[in-house]
Amino acid sequence: MRAMHASLLATAAGSLAIAALALATEPADKGLVSPIYGVSLPHGYRQWEVIAPAMEGAPLDELRVVVGNATAARAYRSHTLPFPDGSVLVKLAWKQKPSPEFAPATIPGAATTVQVMVKDATRYAATGGWGFGRFIDGKPADEAQHRSCFACHQARVNGHDFVFTRLAP
Ligand code: HEC
Repeated sequence: MRAMHASLLATAAGSLAIAALALATEPADKGLVSPIYGVSLPHGYRQWEVIAPAMEGAPLDELRVVVGNATAARAYRSHTLPFPDGSVLVKLAWKQKPSPEFAPATIPGAATTVQVMVKDATRYAATGGWGFGRFIDGKPADEAQHRSCFACHQARVNGHDFVFTRLAP
């Protein structure tokens, strides 16, 4: 009886360990990953290092900031290409808005999209080693939008590991 108890406990502990592992590696909600790539919004990206700002004129009129996790930032600083596995780049974007305190200055208005690129050369071998995710209000955009990501990055920056943004001087 005691032996059976012990083995039941061991089994329970085993499944707990597996559940904890799943929690650490899987996004909490499967509905929050991008179609095709299964990329989620990474934790803590608002605290990541700034790689460079960008902006786009009409009709989008957006201000953007590209940030990178520690692996990506290190690769930028050491001029390492291709980016190593585990590199993550996030592009935040907002509508441009004149500052209410000083009109010639432009400030971020409403947030538009958050876009993510995750490097995993094995998993994403078919798309240059990058997985893509586009999020609006925290929710992934549809599959059709995700079909366009790699095509544009591949056509224009295949000589820079499919990444447009350079480290701002
Ligand atoms: C028509 C071209 C085009 C398409 C389509 C496109 N991008 Fe980009 N992407 C850019 C450009 C240009 C930049 C450089 C930053 C900027 O100007 O906004 C960029 C930058 C990025 C960055 C920052 C890293 C880098 O390469 O500079 C991420 C992350 C990103 N895009 C994700 C995506 C995702 C996800 C999709 C699909 C939903 C996508 N992109 C579709 C043109 C494109």
